[in-house]
Amino acid sequence: NKGQPVPNPAPTEFGFKLLATDGKARRGEVFMPRGTIRTPAFMPVGTAATVKFMYPGQVRDLGADVILGNTYHLMLRPGAERVDALGGLHKFANWPYPILTDSGGFQVMSLAQLRKMSEEGVEFKSHIDGAKFMMTPERSIEIQCLLGSDIQMQLDECTRLPAKEIEIEKAMQLSLRWAERCKTQFGDRPGQAMFGIVQGGDIPRLREESARALKAMDLKGYSIGGLAVGEPQAVMLDILDVTCPILPENKPRYLMGVGTPDDLMEAVSRGVDMFDCVMPTRAGRHGLAFTRFGKVNLKNARHKDDPRPLDPESDCPAARDYSRAYLYHLVKSNEALGAMLLSWNNLAYYQSLMQGMRDAIEAGRFEDHKAEVKEGWARGDM
Ligand code: GUN
Repeated sequence: NKGQPVPNPAPTEFGFKLLATDGKARRGEVFMPRGTIRTPAFMPVGTAATVKFMYPGQVRDLGADVILGNTYHLMLRPGAERVDALGGLHKFANWPYPILTDSGGFQVMSLAQLRKMSEEGVEFKSHIDGAKFMMTPERSIEIQCLLGSDIQMQLDECTRLPAKEIEIEKAMQLSLRWAERCKTQFGDRPGQAMFGIVQGGDIPRLREESARALKAMDLKGYSIGGLAVGEPQAVMLDILDVTCPILPENKPRYLMGVGTPDDLMEAVSRGVDMFDCVMPTRAGRHGLAFTRFGKVNLKNARHKDDPRPLDPESDCPAARDYSRAYLYHLVKSNEALGAMLLSWNNLAYYQSLMQGMRDAIEAGRFEDHKAEVKEGWARGDM
């Protein structure tokens, strides 16, 4: 993994170091015994203990310092106790580097028809076999500890937008009470971290209250949830403008479930350090490629006879060594290799985007760099 700092000896504690700032953009390192996350960072999503259609070594070689796993999915299948008995998630998935797990709070929103909320927790009906089970804040942390993840998320209630202010406020307050219960359950684990999640929808007053209350809990990191859930990008960016300045400077900030390459650049320029999103891998499985010159939809018949690769100057073989005509053929034929190559290309593009942002912040030219990158997307390559 080129460029990955290898501290010797490995740190015994979790921590964050700010290395440089440029405007509000931050260049840092989140360190822990299993490795260091260079920030701004993009974390590929491995919901079911696999980044779909990718080998772990391939994900690593693209420059991923951390991947994401999902409490809800792994609890249902294969089961947290089973993963623990088999030596933990890192060993199970052959990914010996940092892993971040989400808490199940997102499924409160995405599986709205299959759950019942109460102060105690969320009752889910399995999307696999209909079995009922209770997810409490304590159980979510217990599962994340059985999985053995390095960075854990509090259980929260993520509200889809648009929503009534009273509903947003209720979910935000419940999430704050659950943050306290998660903190207590997590206890003292020096090499790991439990992040609180800022909620409050599209209401600045509620975001401020949530961020202040979480800051007062002195957690090891802060997530910003409940965004990219139906609101326009401008609303999300306004919420980042009010939320980031409240969060402590010396802790990592993670914008959950975001986003497009443009979202990532705009959020970094507002002070966000970490991101995860299914976009590069999911879009890849659906025939969409991200490149320096914008998006390329390989389902479009205009690629049928195009001998050009996606990007001849990319370091990624998927971008360099296969024609658009061949990718079109693979996608149209629903071949596994099509999903493999486009997932590979897209994760390579996302990681190169992050590397470019890290370099630009260090060089003190983030805003110029942002303008140059956007120029490439606007130009297109047809
Ligand atoms: N992933 C994307 N958004 C959210 C959120 O608000 N909460 C949680 N737990 N996960 C998310």
